[in-house]
Amino acid sequence: MSETAQPRVLIVVSGGIAAYKACEVLRGLQKAGCEVHVAMTEDATRFVGTVTFEALSGHAVGTSLYGNPETPIPHIKLSEWADLVLVCPATANLMAKMASGIADDLASATLLAAASPVLVAPAMNVRMWENPATVANVRTLASRGVSFVMPTQGRLACGDVGTGKLADVDDIVSAALGMLGGSAPDVPSMAPETIDQGNANASFIEALRAAAASSGGTIVVEKPVRDLEGWRFLITAGPTHEAIDPVRFIANASTGKMGYTIARRAAERGAQVTIISGPVSLAAPDGVEVVRVTSAAEMYDAATSRFGHDVDCAICTAAVADYTPARPADHKLKKGIERIDVIELVETKDILAALSRMKDSGQVVVGFAAETNDLIDYAQAKLAKKGCDLIVANDVSRADSTFGSDTSRISLVSEGGVDEHETLPLEQVADVILDRVCDIMESRA
Ligand code: CTP
Repeated sequence: MSETAQPRVLIVVSGGIAAYKACEVLRGLQKAGCEVHVAMTEDATRFVGTVTFEALSGHAVGTSLYGNPETPIPHIKLSEWADLVLVCPATANLMAKMASGIADDLASATLLAAASPVLVAPAMNVRMWENPATVANVRTLASRGVSFVMPTQGRLACGDVGTGKLADVDDIVSAALGMLGGSAPDVPSMAPETIDQGNANASFIEALRAAAASSGGTIVVEKPVRDLEGWRFLITAGPTHEAIDPVRFIANASTGKMGYTIARRAAERGAQVTIISGPVSLAAPDGVEVVRVTSAAEMYDAATSRFGHDVDCAICTAAVADYTPARPADHKLKKGIERIDVIELVETKDILAALSRMKDSGQVVVGFAAETNDLIDYAQAKLAKKGCDLIVANDVSRADSTFGSDTSRISLVSEGGVDEHETLPLEQVADVILDRVCDIMESRA
């Protein structure tokens, strides 16, 4: 960094609709005490004129390598001047030039000559962002130590919805300031596959992360999707243990992974989440309240007492025992002395059905159906019997979808029909379910 008190940032603006956001970024950096120069591509000037950036920065703004009255080699002068070069917005084209070392205008030549750290804030159409050419270019740049403020999801200028929106101005400014201060900016990261549901993008982000890790010191700033902010979720998870005596119980093979993963993703997407958990060996996800219970009766009481009108959605993933011993012994039963070969069972109370009866018109209740055969028929019957809004059916006879698996193959069964999904990692399954809950909420609104 320069020895002067004022950190020097060169903003390279390339030609995209998000170019106007560079004005706000410039202002944000100035407010934080930075001196800012701007270089633009010719195309960028079609979106915002040089005069605007000249007025804001107080410095001449160049687009060409030639005809500069102050210096015959403006790209060298600018690149030596800057403590940080921020490319904002970065088009797919400019990143392609950066990756292949093309230097045919002031912007790209300055980037090739840059001696200081480079931070890139891409913005483009989702298909351009996910194109293998862009993927490769971003990966190349990251592996060379270039830092990124990742684009976010949303409605893009072209009308498409997906990843490609320029990151928030505040995030770009804080990333730049973090780099000037020598520290990584404190922006929360998110699971790669939640940036976009598409596998292509997930592997892209994975590759980018790997490249970033191997290059050392490169930061990738990702804006988490927090579309569930302000929502409350109640999630039942895990098995229940039904006592026969103080040391014996009836249980099942549930591990709680599905419920805990949904809870974690809901919390990462901004929701307030409570898990009513049967006995499992899983840690509470960050920021999630876990109420631990043992039996079906305890789970019923914990869930129904917490299902107030402030809860937006209940998701019953728990494998609740359908039957419980009618008279659990208060002491350890002794074989040969007491009869333990016949245990009288009584039916437990159905939590999912109870919550479905309690729900008001704004609340969504989701149930699960783990089946080994006739999956959709059973799920449809369950939907009607329990009175819930959605049944997540999964075929537990499949190795890639059974209890304890890290993947699941689900079908979403509602009054509207059946929506079958491929086998997916649990995180993506969680997002598919949460996305459907959002759709139901939105359709009601
Ligand atoms: N469920 C519940 N409370 C119970 C039993 C089940 O909340 N006492 C919920 C589960 O969390 C799950 C769904 O109901 O969301 C499962 O439905 P259920 O008909 O109980 O499935 P199974 O236990 O597999 O029973 P069946 O033999 O009828 O298929």
